[in-house]
Amino acid sequence: MTSRFEILHKDAAGRIGKLTTAHGVVETPTVMPVINPNIQTIKPSEMRDFGAQMLITNSYIIYRKEELREKALKDGLHSLLDFDGPIMTDSGSFQLSVYGEVEVSNEQIVEFQQKIGSDIGVPLDIPTPPNVTREQAESELETTIQRLKAARDLVKDGMLLAGPVQGSSYPDLREQCASTLSKVGFDVYPFGAVVPLMETYRYADLVDVIIAAKKGLDPSAPVHLFGAGHPMMFALAVSLGCDLFDSAAYALYAKDRRYITTTGTYHVDKLQYLPCSCPICVSRTAEQLKKASNCQDLLARHNLYVTFEEIRHIKQSIKEGNLLELVEQRCRAHPRLLSALKQMYRYSDWLEQHDPASKSTFFYCGPESSKRPEILRFSRRLDRFSLKGKALIRASPTRIDSEFDHVLIFRPPFGAFPQELSEIYPFNTESVHNPDYESLEEAYMNVLELIGLNPHVEFTFMIADRFEHPLIEKLKHLATII
Ligand code: GUN
Ligand code: ZN
Repeated sequence: MTSRFEILHKDAAGRIGKLTTAHGVVETPTVMPVINPNIQTIKPSEMRDFGAQMLITNSYIIYRKEELREKALKDGLHSLLDFDGPIMTDSGSFQLSVYGEVEVSNEQIVEFQQKIGSDIGVPLDIPTPPNVTREQAESELETTIQRLKAARDLVKDGMLLAGPVQGSSYPDLREQCASTLSKVGFDVYPFGAVVPLMETYRYADLVDVIIAAKKGLDPSAPVHLFGAGHPMMFALAVSLGCDLFDSAAYALYAKDRRYITTTGTYHVDKLQYLPCSCPICVSRTAEQLKKASNCQDLLARHNLYVTFEEIRHIKQSIKEGNLLELVEQRCRAHPRLLSALKQMYRYSDWLEQHDPASKSTFFYCGPESSKRPEILRFSRRLDRFSLKGKALIRASPTRIDSEFDHVLIFRPPFGAFPQELSEIYPFNTESVHNPDYESLEEAYMNVLELIGLNPHVEFTFMIADRFEHPLIEKLKHLATII
């Protein structure tokens, strides 16, 4: 079976890809607006105007209501929703997680999704929430895997089939599940039961879940982060290798009179200005928006506009090779996101395996940048410089440069590298004149390593005042400091 997902561009573990479905090709990363078959503030036929390429709806809601079920079986899902692009259907697992049971079996709901012409169907997985006992996580996972295998046997062609990765907050179970599903072979891999993590701002735990699940998958497999709809965390999730999102948030937030931005959410009644240039926001004042009789509809529209604006922003960043800069900016919007950024860089080793070896200028955005995969890659490759004789390490050109066999540039957070490389990625970094402690720490650790790797070289290190750091004491034993 040829892959329905083609990766076109990469940055960090993020990518721009193309997913082929029976109703057309979608370019990822993208968000699927959630359509409630019963109530629609914005019609599915309007969704393309916001930038949506694919929708998601709930087949269980359709199945349960006779009128919808009959129409879907007779005319098809696309006619029911009046949308001729790709539509993914969920299975009722969410209702299962909220109400404890559903009036349908796995086989019934999978066959139903197929019959109504869904483009991507989802089996009835069990969304095991975070922090349950290991026993519960294991036993529910076993049921989930059985159901997914049964679904795989039922669906042979036409509809793409999603294989949700469960495993609660146990990284080994998440990885194991992903790897088992990989062997069975699904078309899309949603990471499930992460809504409780997002609702409680546990983004650092979300990072753990995503990375564990990704480790069990083939890197070329498309990944959907189930229930993720707030644009402030899209860049982070994309950089970890998530390709699809679904947003009920645009409508749910609007219902609560909340106005989404890429850095957080405002209650519309607290807004004196509208910090957005979408068609909704440029044509009215904050006061008019608040008082509008259709405020909820207007907010839902604004929320969708900013959601897709962020997706375009992310895609542009992937093309330019500065997705991590965008992630670092976005993660400064909330301390919990900052924790997630720090958590993500604990996996720099893993990120480094996916990160393209060459991209655009490395921009230093703050202390966390010193933990970027590029820095780790550099420190691993220090043994590639072959040095002999006398080496000078300094930040900018000096009168004594010509007295040395090698002149190395000192540029935090990297450390020291031959000056011939200074215009070459990643050394052409845009860094700060007065580096912070963390960036100096990385740089000096790498210099210490370099000196250790070259015991026969005589090092002279010209250290400017702005590079003050406790590690200089250690260097004093190994090099001449001037
Ligand atoms: N929607 C949000 N989370 C989940 C999940 O874990 N499984 C399914 N099927 N749908 C979801
Ligand atoms: Zn707006």
